[in-house]
Amino acid sequence: MTAKIINGTEISKKIREELKQEVARLKEEHDIIPGLVTILVGDDPASQSYVSSKVRTCQELGIYSERHDLPAETGEKELLALVERLNKDPKIHGILVQLPLPEHINESSVLMAIDPGKDVDCFHPVNIGKLMIGEPDFLPCTPHGIQELLLRSGIETEGADVVVVGRSNIVGKPVANMLLQKKAGANATVTVCHTRTRNLASHTSRADILIVAAGGKPRAITADMVKEGAVVIDVGTHRIGKTAEGKAILCGDVDFDSVKEKAKAITPVPGGVGPMTIVMLMSNTVKAARMASGLA
Ligand SMILES: NC(=O)c1ccc[n+]([C@@H]2O[C@H](COP(=O)([O-])OP(=O)(O)OC[C@H]3O[C@@H](n4cnc5c(N)ncnc54)[C@H](OP(=O)(O)O)[C@@H]3O)[C@@H](O)[C@H]2O)c1
Repeated sequence: MTAKIINGTEISKKIREELKQEVARLKEEHDIIPGLVTILVGDDPASQSYVSSKVRTCQELGIYSERHDLPAETGEKELLALVERLNKDPKIHGILVQLPLPEHINESSVLMAIDPGKDVDCFHPVNIGKLMIGEPDFLPCTPHGIQELLLRSGIETEGADVVVVGRSNIVGKPVANMLLQKKAGANATVTVCHTRTRNLASHTSRADILIVAAGGKPRAITADMVKEGAVVIDVGTHRIGKTAEGKAILCGDVDFDSVKEKAKAITPVPGGVGPMTIVMLMSNTVKAARMASGLA
């Protein structure tokens, strides 16, 4: 069997188009322009490039964007004061603090200072709690992107054995939680694996849907660890070299070439989960704007 490739680039383009239309409608019918602010502390090139692509995507969709790039020595108090000001700014519906923050700043204090109604990354405990009880305002971006890939590729999750490799707060735990909810696009039986799991392959090889967000070793999930006909979602992103033009060469946690011969469907890296994360951030920003105006 050669797997169907789940094309995150194509699916994310479709969602971008839908969001663009929704943003135009909000403006026309309600005079609302969704607004996203990005806060970057320090000059890490990878973080700078993530922020730039978020700002570009806002511009492309008609979302107002504001960018605060602060020096690495910015103090926690100063950062908290900025968050506080943006919490009160009516033009801003979503606040994104680019992680990681420098070591002298307590990440958790900053994330918890964001108004939960503007927490478009969905990291605040209030939003994680709402997600857990099945009444979310926002869904975290990468897990939401994974769920959309499954839904839009017609993959049945109801009753499926889903195995998630990884238990991070931003991917593994929330995606596991979302897929076990009693709702459409979920209703799965979910197992979560991590570094203390005994015999990882015994779990992965019985998964109908295998979601890998481990980030340990590149291509660690090999064909012998995957069930014939499984759906494989690879979240892992590894930079394994550079092209002659200096562009990063990426691969995932899954050994794509061998696993695609056994799986029913698979996401590539790049071009799978990656492009979905940013559009789900935009989707949360639009939702936040609707919520702030009593429309959602
Ligand atoms: N495409 C995207 O948009 C996107 C977004 C976010 C993340 N990512 C990528 O996804 C990967 C995971 O990210 P993350 O933030 O969730 O990472 P993380 O915080 O480092 O968590 C990794 C998780 O995987 C588990 N793990 C690591 N190696 C393992 C192994 N050999 N066997 C079983 N479990 C293992 C760890 O277990 P313990 O808890 O026991 O340590 C941990 O729970 C990274 O490659 C990251 O770059 C991509």
